Amino acid sequence: MRKGLAVGGAGAIGAGLLAGGIPAFARQSNGSITKGDAAILRFLAAAEIIETDLWQQYNELGGVQDAEVPGGSGSAAYIKALVFMDGDMPQYVHDNTDDEFTHFKFINAYLMSKGAAPVNLDKFRTLPSSKATGAQQIGRLTNLMQLTVDTTYWTKYRSSSKNPDFGDTFAPAIPSLLKGKFPAIPRDDNDLTPGDHIQAIANTAAFHFAFIEQGGTSLYPSLAQRVTDPEVLRILLSIGPTETMHFQTWQDKAGNFKVLRDPSNPKLVFPDLNASGSQSTQTNLIMPEPTIFLDRKFPRVSIIRPTETQGAAMGAVKALSDDGLFIGQSPEFFALLTQLAREADAARRES
Ligand SMILES: [Fe+2]
Ligand SMILES: [Fe+2]
Repeated sequence: MRKGLAVGGAGAIGAGLLAGGIPAFARQSNGSITKGDAAILRFLAAAEIIETDLWQQYNELGGVQDAEVPGGSGSAAYIKALVFMDGDMPQYVHDNTDDEFTHFKFINAYLMSKGAAPVNLDKFRTLPSSKATGAQQIGRLTNLMQLTVDTTYWTKYRSSSKNPDFGDTFAPAIPSLLKGKFPAIPRDDNDLTPGDHIQAIANTAAFHFAFIEQGGTSLYPSLAQRVTDPEVLRILLSIGPTETMHFQTWQDKAGNFKVLRDPSNPKLVFPDLNASGSQSTQTNLIMPEPTIFLDRKFPRVSIIRPTETQGAAMGAVKALSDDGLFIGQSPEFFALLTQLAREADAARRES
């Protein structure tokens, strides 16, 4: 039986979470989703709103601006640098952006259909836009201009003996991206030259695209393990693998990056990942290497990693914060995001 639906935590929900003056959980009753399911969906809605905000910025400058994903007018030099990796990059950026809009809109609509509060982060759209020609001048939730991109996902999926769920750690494929703050979009038109500088920005973006989507690839299966309602489980099992489709595309494209040293910032180096002959960085090794799972007594298996459910939402918040995405955001924003994550991580599967 589902229980404890009516109250619990509603008073602690920040104002940013309320929509139409309806407090979280206030309208829940038997027959609707559990408090835990609502908390998991709300955290996912927040994550999807954040994804949408960053992808929108990429699309304005590097994607296809059309009726599906309006806003911005493109940056020819940035697009040219992205297209170095694949001629279809603008289409892929567009389609990933389009997908993220639908993810958060669907989850919020579903929450409301169950009498639960949706997530609205509009009051935190305070960060500056890129000043480069092609970007809209509007407030943003995320910052793509001071990123510290963790590329350990690259070696994590190429390891045949380690798994983060066993406490294993991994070396970054592009070490310098983890040792500074780098733009993944041109900050202004001065970033459009010299050619290898805007290429370094596009390289950074390509590795960042895959970083974001591998996070979603793990987040959905991690949280799905604590969902109660089969229909909510179906939502997580149906959206999650689209994150994996994105990740798979992006790590394939990122592998076509240009080997270079950024002439405007010599600390940023994109080394030849195939030079060593090591499988752990090989660019075309894009299918997950089978590795250990659950217990070493089992045979190695090709899997998403990590999928540990405990603390998965807080882990996602930490990864996005460490990425630099929220540089400039208010303490109130972090407090709300942390609260949403804590509530999602407190959710338990009920029988
Ligand atoms: Fe998404
Ligand atoms: Fe995504």
